Amino acid sequence: MGDLNYMTGFASHFETEALPGALPRGQNSPQKTEYGLYPEQLSGSAFTAPRDHNLRSWLYRIMPTVVHGEFEQVAHNEFTGAPWMELPPTPNQLRWFPQKLNGEGKNFLQGLICMAGNGEVGQSGSAIYHLEFDQGMGNSFFYSSDSEIVFLPFENEMQIRTEMGELRLGLCEIAVIPRGVKFQVNPLGGKVSAYMTENFGEPFRLPNLGPIGANGLANPRDFQYPVACFEDKTGEFKLFNKFAGYLYQANLKQSPLDVVAWHGNLAPYKYNLRNFNTINTVSFDHPDPSIFTVLTSPTTSEGTANVDFVIFPPRWMVAENTFRPPYYHRNYMNEYMGLLEGVYDAKAEGFQPGGASLHNRMSGHGPDANTFKKASSGELKPVFQGKTMAFMFESNQIYRPTPKAMKSEQRDKAYQQCWQGIERIFKK
Ligand SMILES: [Fe+2]
Repeated sequence: MGDLNYMTGFASHFETEALPGALPRGQNSPQKTEYGLYPEQLSGSAFTAPRDHNLRSWLYRIMPTVVHGEFEQVAHNEFTGAPWMELPPTPNQLRWFPQKLNGEGKNFLQGLICMAGNGEVGQSGSAIYHLEFDQGMGNSFFYSSDSEIVFLPFENEMQIRTEMGELRLGLCEIAVIPRGVKFQVNPLGGKVSAYMTENFGEPFRLPNLGPIGANGLANPRDFQYPVACFEDKTGEFKLFNKFAGYLYQANLKQSPLDVVAWHGNLAPYKYNLRNFNTINTVSFDHPDPSIFTVLTSPTTSEGTANVDFVIFPPRWMVAENTFRPPYYHRNYMNEYMGLLEGVYDAKAEGFQPGGASLHNRMSGHGPDANTFKKASSGELKPVFQGKTMAFMFESNQIYRPTPKAMKSEQRDKAYQQCWQGIERIFKK
């Protein structure tokens, strides 16, 4: 990957200008600006949201966003309202082998398949997609009015050119693009495979650390924000907007990546999951997966997430007198899992990068028969779980699989068999 400069922090106040003096000093919206730029505020929260969670940035751009042709609805395979509402959801445990998306010749918008979703589009909940593309977006750009978007590539590097600057993502890196930010996604080499999530609720923030203290889990200094980088180009451009579940398109005469300078705390960012400071037991028992929370989208109910983004990174396992894989469990929270790299320790086979599993509210799950056998009889020496990067989107609302996900040839219809070999070991 080429070198890019990034600013570090998490939702900190950043200032960046691609031309010297482009940022006004001492005020946001002066009568006249250097270089004849238009000031424009991008608000990611209500104006009166508490200061801790008030997100906004001031963008100084060549043309204000309002200058565009009329938006017209255009057909899209997945942006059809809420495709996860088309079928009654099932309490069965579900698993998918990696999707075969045939991303050849497709760009980001053409290479999506929606797997599951919940909540109300644009207001609460989330939707999960699998994505494959090998084409750039050329003169087309996109923004979502509905959601903050998370990209999780697991095959090949990708470029995200945004109006606030450029991000490049390698493997085990994620990007979060705030609601409203205009961007385009391009492959940097070969065909990109990725997971993608739309968060309709509160923007992701770092979880509180409680007794862990001031450091640990995802540290703010490891989040990387782009520096201002503008494109002064006129011509024929297309701007796509996902709005209330549907896709719209307008024509532009100017590249929307025309922000010369910006300041504020609302911007796209990336994070290398390998920087996660993993906290775990050094005595006994298997802690709840919340110790692996990278980012959380809270609800008004304290501790109950609209969606948590959780990872299972490389780590030492040292617990004594303990069944070390995840315990058998049934949850209030609903779990959509994927794998970016390596293997996941609760499944002997069948869970691969690009695959997925879904365990919904109160549906029992846990280690398969073989994993249970091995883990309950193996020697408990310290073990380094090395090559792995599983993740989970965990939501307080049931994930409803789409008809495409349920009918997918990649759905493992024998998934429940992995538990049927669990033996009675009860003895009186
Ligand atoms: Fe689980």
